[in-house]
Amino acid sequence: MKTIKVHDKEFSLYLRSEEIQETVKNVAEQIKNDMEGKNPLFLIVLNGAFMFAADLFKYMNFPCDISFVKLSSYIGTKTTSVVRELIGLDEVLHDRSVVIIEDIIDTGITMGVTREKLKKLEAEEVKIATLLFKPDAFKMNYEIDYVGMKIPNDFIVGYGLDYDGHGRNFPDIYKIIES
Ligand code: IMP
Ligand code: MG
Repeated sequence: MKTIKVHDKEFSLYLRSEEIQETVKNVAEQIKNDMEGKNPLFLIVLNGAFMFAADLFKYMNFPCDISFVKLSSYIGTKTTSVVRELIGLDEVLHDRSVVIIEDIIDTGITMGVTREKLKKLEAEEVKIATLLFKPDAFKMNYEIDYVGMKIPNDFIVGYGLDYDGHGRNFPDIYKIIES
């Protein structure tokens, strides 16, 4: 089995590029069904979602706005993620259909906070699209509108996802080999 090394850790091939592309097409189809004709605003969450988003929009050719936000979060002593800022949001959300594009939802805290912030900006509706979802790690109780694939609670890299800044630039996704 193909393995890669990122920093000090070994990872083995988990999802091939072809399988990822099928998943991306499927998510695009679902979003298109709901959003075509609504002139939605898509907010791509940097850094991780850059590759997913680049592929996703190749399958969604209807009028829409695309923008980027960068979430600044930190891990507290109790492994709680706190979203401190939403950088780069300069669009007016009032009365718009907003779709957040994420790479992965783990505990769901980051997206939970983001979602609440966007709702306060009076968006008509706020939907969440994620390529990957770890249901066993999810601690929140909001709905995730578009899920590409549910995966076990293992650490992964590739296709935008990183381990300590590295590993984003692989077309496939790799799973950590626990030693
Ligand atoms: P949350 O726990 O849902 O708030 O996710 C926090 C952030 O951790 C996400 O935005 C991801 O960027 C990152 N993350 C979660 N799981 C993984 C993983 O398996 N590999 C790389 N990054 C991850
Ligand atoms: Mg992310």
